Amino acid sequence: MIRLDKFLADMGIGTRSQVKQYLKRGMVTVNQETEKRPERKVAIETDTVCFQGTPVAYAEYEYYMLYKPAGCVSAVSDGHYKTVLSYIKEASRKDLFPVGRLDLDTEGLLLITNDGALCHELLSPAHHVPKTYYVETAGEIPKQAVPLFAEGVSIGDAKPTRPGVLEILCAGPVSRAFLTITEGRYHQVKRMFDLIGCPVSYLKRVSFGELQLDESLKPGEYRALTAAEVSSLKGGNRNIIW
Ligand code: URA
Repeated sequence: MIRLDKFLADMGIGTRSQVKQYLKRGMVTVNQETEKRPERKVAIETDTVCFQGTPVAYAEYEYYMLYKPAGCVSAVSDGHYKTVLSYIKEASRKDLFPVGRLDLDTEGLLLITNDGALCHELLSPAHHVPKTYYVETAGEIPKQAVPLFAEGVSIGDAKPTRPGVLEILCAGPVSRAFLTITEGRYHQVKRMFDLIGCPVSYLKRVSFGELQLDESLKPGEYRALTAAEVSSLKGGNRNIIW
């Protein structure tokens, strides 16, 4: 049960004070009866709340997959750059945030939600959630990078990285590869490729835990996760031994 004004504000009908005005003006019904009291408690599962005659369904949590384009920051607000949240147009909730970060110039899969518990679970270093990146580098990726990354490499932090899985797709003046890592250190993928003398020229995240980037999305597009995707993220393989 939650207060009616919170219900409506959470679903983006207006701020709490705007919602109070709407209630005063008789614009809200609960179970077909006009309700003017902001403190009225409603059951989110069973009561029917309408604003100006249109039913408002309450979603406690929202989950979106954004194909992050280059040139925007993985933040809720920023004084300079466009934020990833500015792409999510139809969100009813105002408390969404990105789960983790991708660099300004990195593209690909970014989960946006207001589910703090899931975010904590996915980002916790103890859970080693795998993330796969498609990488293009300047310079030929040597074959020896596969066993090197598989052991973990020293990229200047106190500890070497955890093992990473490198799949070289094409090695030449421009190389292409997939790299799967289970940490989220600052510029980790770029630093790993710098170490082998192959600077990253393009980086795109293609999966995060159980979630795959929907390739029908274009950069800047997003969609809500399906119920199956949400439950696979919640129950995904944690603590995989690499
Ligand atoms: N590793 C990087 O170097 N950059 C990213 O954006 C993500 C992983």
